[in-house]
Amino acid sequence: MAKRLPLQGLWSNRMAFVLAVSGSAVGLGNIWKFPYITGQNGGGAFVLVYLLCVFAIGMPIMMSEIMIGRRGRRNPITTMRLVGEEESGQAWWQIIGVGGTLAGCIILSFYSVIAGWALAYIFKSISGVFMGSSAADVAEVFSSFTGSWPSVLLWYTAFLGMTVAIVANGVQRGLEKAVRILRPALMLLLLVLVLFSWRHGDFEAGFSFMFASDFSKLTANSVLVALGHAFFTLSIGMGAVMAYGAYLPEDSSIASASLAVVIVDTLIALAAGLVIFPLVFANGVSPSEGPGLMFKSMPLVFGAMPGGAVFGALFFALLTFAAWTSSIGLIEPAVSWMVEARHVSRVRAALTVGGLVWLLGIATVLSFNALSDFTFLRGTLYANIDFLASNILLPVGGLLITVFAGWVVCRNSSADELAIGTGVRFRLWRALTRLVAPLAVLLILLNAVGVLNLSGG
Ligand code: TRP
Repeated sequence: MAKRLPLQGLWSNRMAFVLAVSGSAVGLGNIWKFPYITGQNGGGAFVLVYLLCVFAIGMPIMMSEIMIGRRGRRNPITTMRLVGEEESGQAWWQIIGVGGTLAGCIILSFYSVIAGWALAYIFKSISGVFMGSSAADVAEVFSSFTGSWPSVLLWYTAFLGMTVAIVANGVQRGLEKAVRILRPALMLLLLVLVLFSWRHGDFEAGFSFMFASDFSKLTANSVLVALGHAFFTLSIGMGAVMAYGAYLPEDSSIASASLAVVIVDTLIALAAGLVIFPLVFANGVSPSEGPGLMFKSMPLVFGAMPGGAVFGALFFALLTFAAWTSSIGLIEPAVSWMVEARHVSRVRAALTVGGLVWLLGIATVLSFNALSDFTFLRGTLYANIDFLASNILLPVGGLLITVFAGWVVCRNSSADELAIGTGVRFRLWRALTRLVAPLAVLLILLNAVGVLNLSGG
């Protein structure tokens, strides 16, 4: 069968592709979310399960998404329809694309609120409010900021506007050039911060919290959160990586590109934890603080550092930038679908989707102030929206993708597309994709809703 060609040219090489995918993967998930959910779920054992999920489930699914994307060479919805029809005669596989597109919009709604906090913190840092601050001062800055919804709404709107502006103009590639410089800068700064946290924090307590596994703290729900976060942080389970794969040149290795992304993403998350937890333990901040954890701990290091106002501003600027490149990947599926299927202009599509996401995000804005006492199921409105998107929609999407790649796509097509031969590496991918990933996701989901009781307790 003749290979389909992409509609808009190819990545110039594998490096450009790795930069784009890691630009979507590395973001608030690594630096803001990973530390706070680790804190809420008891540390070490959770981190271990998370790492297992990333490497044994996340990485094969990432390869599957890229493989399907390169086969289809269209937006995720069209790709799943085309490849689904070719491999199984069924068009309904496009449900993966539809669900993923929706999940992207839901995630973006809360993602932009937190990115708005980071944006605001650039200016707070540069003003010097954190210089010489105690943990109580820093916590006070955070709660008076997030406690007033008009200012949060303003920064949230500003960030979402930045995302819509880029997507409306279709100038994403410009940002990818910037990633090339700003990503290493972020990594270097994190490394410096780890050293500072080592000197000013309780490194031993932080380190052992993250890496000493106490499995008695692990609940069925924690395992689901670890799995959901593996999907969240790698940007998989919703077809986003599939969309990037559509532009991957035929001769680029999918396996090594995926491995590079997974490693960079994991290192950044672990480094963020190693900055935050030593500060948390040295300053009496509660590790189970929740979404405010990074904002209540990170400024402590800047307050104690010479030139801390500038370093703080730089850190929050690099973080905002990383969130910006991720947010584009969250909104792009919906926008490109509107452009291709509804034939509206990019500007109109971006404004429409952006407007709907903005409305939804108000629920998250209010979760930290006016509606903070309004809790049900998982907690605040924000906690429920995050749970639905990260811990239900992404794993279910990932389950369908891995079943499709492992059981529906025939062995020869996947061997041909992955091009890692048919030896041990291919067999490992296929075993993980056909058996390990689908079974693990299914068991974790069923266990968490209580249909199964694996711990026997
Ligand atoms: N991976 C991103 C982060 O860790 C968030 C994210 C989830 C994402 N799914 C995505 C980004 C899809 C782009 C596309 O911050």
